[in-house]
Amino acid sequence: MSKSIKIGLFGFGVVGQGLYNVLKQTTSINATINKICVKDKSKSRNVDSNLITFDKNDILNNPDIDIIVELIDNADEAYEIVKTALKNKKSVVSANKKMIAEHLEEFYDLQKEHGVSLLYEGAACGSIPIIRNLEEYYDNDLLTSIETICNGTTNYILTKMSEEGLEYSEALAGAQKSGFAESNPRLDVMAFDPKYKIAILLAHAFGLFVHEKDVFNFGISNVSNFDFQYAAKNNASIKLIAGAYKKDNVVKAYVIPKFIVASNMFYNVKNEFNAVQLEAAFSDKQFFYGKGAGAFPTASAVLADISALHYQYKYEYKKHFSDTSISFSNDVVLNVYIRYKEKSQLEKLEFESIDEQHTINQTNYIIAKVKLKSLIKNDVNEWQDFFVAAF
Ligand SMILES: NC(=O)c1ccc[n+]([C@@H]2O[C@H](COP(=O)([O-])OP(=O)(O)OC[C@H]3O[C@@H](n4cnc5c(N)ncnc54)[C@H](OP(=O)(O)O)[C@@H]3O)[C@@H](O)[C@H]2O)c1
Repeated sequence: MSKSIKIGLFGFGVVGQGLYNVLKQTTSINATINKICVKDKSKSRNVDSNLITFDKNDILNNPDIDIIVELIDNADEAYEIVKTALKNKKSVVSANKKMIAEHLEEFYDLQKEHGVSLLYEGAACGSIPIIRNLEEYYDNDLLTSIETICNGTTNYILTKMSEEGLEYSEALAGAQKSGFAESNPRLDVMAFDPKYKIAILLAHAFGLFVHEKDVFNFGISNVSNFDFQYAAKNNASIKLIAGAYKKDNVVKAYVIPKFIVASNMFYNVKNEFNAVQLEAAFSDKQFFYGKGAGAFPTASAVLADISALHYQYKYEYKKHFSDTSISFSNDVVLNVYIRYKEKSQLEKLEFESIDEQHTINQTNYIIAKVKLKSLIKNDVNEWQDFFVAAF
């Protein structure tokens, strides 16, 4: 039997406790948690008190600990922990998409410099094994696009609006009540969370380190029943899609609500579920579907990473070296529906064409070809009474 892996765990919230329970229930992996570092001294913990520490150095400088699993909810503090761990030559598993998307290139350098590994399958699409698949399986295939519904909160809200005719505020309140949305849902509903995930996936799909700040995100906080009525008339629903598309060695990536017709596989991805669709030259379309969040689904991805560290698995970021001719660009023209309040909003944007212009019951919308760069320049994610969705 292989040597037992001794884990130092940061965070004992939803995912940390999920991992603790999953490790107790599985015999497939020989690993034990040696220490758990948490923050709040006043909380009672349903775990042996000898395991708990409030001092990160009890894990970071502990020679008995083989690997570090970082599952805290603060990206800046997580960054310090992960950086120190890698410098101390400890391999790390994390599910912190914000932190990874913000520092991926630096982490890549640190892994190389210190000969250790940082794995983060749980950071993108929870239980769906997409990162290692992109790393290993699609290495020699001609991947042309990756699209994903990777935010359960927004998918839950959009499903309730589409199927039950709820207003946005009602659907959000329902999502919060059912535990699918945070009390401060900004990172989800403004589409920052899926932007972090597609930024991470870009490194493994196309070998590109793109800072998350350079990827456009437009969320669902302004979506209305009017937009769903328009979608229904076109036999479609609205889904928040994070996508990356390669053509002639240029990759374009953005997160935007999209009209998804009933024949599209994403149409039936409902509520909190996630999905990924890859398209490659010879294999054509492939579809992955599963749970993108939650204690056990996320812990299962973390567990798979811990297991991979058993055999010294590392992401090699092979595509980063093998095809250096690929570049990232926001030079895109999108086919869109735009609902707007003031004409002055449209005047700030750049269009290739405005193909239709309508006003129904005092609500204005256009069908147009808009330059993505003009949406980015105007920070339209922050505009009131403005909604854009792509076809
Ligand atoms: N929840 C999900 O379904 C899900 C899915 C995919 C990825 N993730 C990612 O997984 C990570 C954890 O999420 P979660 O939902 O488990 O969070 P959570 O339930 O809010 O728990 C966060 C934990 O982090 C601890 N913590 C915060 N700052 C700390 C610090 N400086 N040092 C030590 N411990 C600290 C907290 O300690 P106290 O207990 O003392 O407050 C708490 O135990 C996040 O990066 C999240 O984005 C979550």
